[in-house]
Amino acid sequence: MNYKDIIATIKSVRNYKKEEISPQKLDQLKEYFTEGRRLDKDIQIEVLLKNKDEVYEQLKDIAGYNGLMLEAPHYLIFLSEEKDHFIENTGYAAQDIMFKAWELGVGSCWITFKDGEEIKGKLNINSDKKLTALISLGFDDNKNKVVYDTMYEHNPSKTDVKIVEDNVSERIGLRDFVFMNKWGEIADPDELTNMGLLEALVSAKRAPSTMNRQPWRFIVDSGTIVLALRSDSYTDEYEEKIDAAEVMFYFETIVDTTLFDMHWNFGKPEKDYEVPDDYRIVGYCIS
Ligand SMILES: Cc1cc2nc3c(=O)[nH]c(=O)nc-3n(C[C@H](O)[C@H](O)[C@H](O)COP(=O)(O)O)c2cc1C
Repeated sequence: MNYKDIIATIKSVRNYKKEEISPQKLDQLKEYFTEGRRLDKDIQIEVLLKNKDEVYEQLKDIAGYNGLMLEAPHYLIFLSEEKDHFIENTGYAAQDIMFKAWELGVGSCWITFKDGEEIKGKLNINSDKKLTALISLGFDDNKNKVVYDTMYEHNPSKTDVKIVEDNVSERIGLRDFVFMNKWGEIADPDELTNMGLLEALVSAKRAPSTMNRQPWRFIVDSGTIVLALRSDSYTDEYEEKIDAAEVMFYFETIVDTTLFDMHWNFGKPEKDYEVPDDYRIVGYCIS
């Protein structure tokens, strides 16, 4: 897959044509159900592909932002074994399939949910595994609006990120989410370029996040890259874990393509980065 192109163009598709995806394309996608990337290959995941009539009416009012279920010709349902970081692992697996779908001309969108067991019941899924993702799938009817921030925009008033209109894919400026050496110290894009990290960081902010809240902040401290995430009262643990996984996946994908084979460590490095109370360090990597 050409990950760079995909990351530069992919967006959430919420309005779908009625047309179904051809069986050939679905077969190509299905190969990714087992072959796609994972955070931890030892965690068993099952991916179910279902059609609209098996899902949409059943989940109306109980999945999606405020019960606003997305109407699509197909859905992917992820079930996972419960192990350490199993939700983040699904974040990697699902996003890789969404990338593959995009490459095949097929759009998709994450659909949030509160009670996985209730959803399994409504869909008649009898499994011991946990429901870890719900994704809509189909051809874009191009009704979404998309707006991009410029990469070098510096706008301090945006440091407190507002929740943007959800169908508008706005992003915060680089200087609002990447700090150098310590929390709050604005990173110089030229320095990030010299370190070979600018492209990966700019790509990371394209990651999807719940309500487009873009809760991630990076601290680049010589060879250590620290990832902190904001907790908001209106998001739950599931959404925060997927949001973390998405930004890790986007960043890792570009570092893997442009620099070296990297992997994230969960938890905090030894040094105290004095992050504010509403943020917590979720992981770090060594470059
Ligand atoms: C965990 C998670 C849950 C999401 N749930 C929904 C949802 O229920 N409905 C929806 O329309 N979009 C949902 N999204 C998509 C985000 O709103 C979207 O990624 C964000 O607004 C950025 O837009 P973009 O993906 O087009 O760049 C979700 C994204 C994530 C990561």
